[in-house]
Amino acid sequence: MTMTYAIEIRSLSVYYNNLCALDSVNLNVKEQEFLGIIGPSGGGKSTLLKSVLNLVKPSSGSIKIFGQPLRLSLNQIGYVPQNIRFDRHFPINVKDVVLMGRISRHKPLFLRYKQADLTIVSQILKDLEIGHLIDRQIGQLSGGQLQRVLLARALAVEPRILLLDEPTSNVDSYSKTLIYSILKELSRRIAVIVVTHDIWAISSLIDQVACLNVKLHYHGGTELNDEIIQNVFGCPVDLIAHGVPHRIYRAHEGV
Ligand SMILES: Nc1ncnc2c1ncn2[C@@H]1O[C@H](COP(=O)(O)OP(=O)(O)OP(=O)(O)O)[C@@H](O)[C@H]1O
Ligand SMILES: [Mg+2]
Repeated sequence: MTMTYAIEIRSLSVYYNNLCALDSVNLNVKEQEFLGIIGPSGGGKSTLLKSVLNLVKPSSGSIKIFGQPLRLSLNQIGYVPQNIRFDRHFPINVKDVVLMGRISRHKPLFLRYKQADLTIVSQILKDLEIGHLIDRQIGQLSGGQLQRVLLARALAVEPRILLLDEPTSNVDSYSKTLIYSILKELSRRIAVIVVTHDIWAISSLIDQVACLNVKLHYHGGTELNDEIIQNVFGCPVDLIAHGVPHRIYRAHEGV
């Protein structure tokens, strides 16, 4: 019997003009898996997530979501983008931002939110400890609060797959801990993929870590070895200096 993966990526290559951003990437992600992706800046991490969202056109290769072609499955994916920039004066409040996550649940002709949508949104905001901010203008939030609002919007999709691109950069440590504990809880039910430089913060939570530098390197588990680190970063000392803990970087015996 073949297993149906939440995400199945085969030989995916992405070029921006002549620049190769992803080269023959293969990746399987199970439902109920928590995958961390690390890699140097420009290594293609955001490109990989955008490919899974159909926001970037692959040059070759394929992506299936629960065994289906991408375009049939987009409403199953929640996404927290990297470095989202709001016009701080744009007049929209937290409730309306998070309700946007409900749109994919409705047929285009019935673009009206129901009481049930509001109930779901209120509950998600409470879970993220920002229920009291529901009527706050988006421009009047702290960085950590804004990031939790963006997570709330992704969760309002009620996704089976959640993709997060650096969800905790520029976030206070309380929000960071809260976000990761919620992601851990979610990963018991759905597939969660997080791109992060905070690998030290989540190494005890994730099931797998993958390293991306145009090519993807992973072979199960959360342990990084010399070969992967050399391939991805070129310099293990540099990586350790950036805070990857000894626990996930174990030098080969006798080296
Ligand atoms: N729309 C685009 N057009 C042209 N080149 C792009 C585009 N988006 C990304 N790139 C290039 O593709 C490569 C991969 O970019 P990507 O944003 O996926 O990297 P990343 O791993 O997310 O980096 P970071 O850690 O800095 O966020 C980079 O060299 C980048 O300059
Ligand atoms: Mg990026």
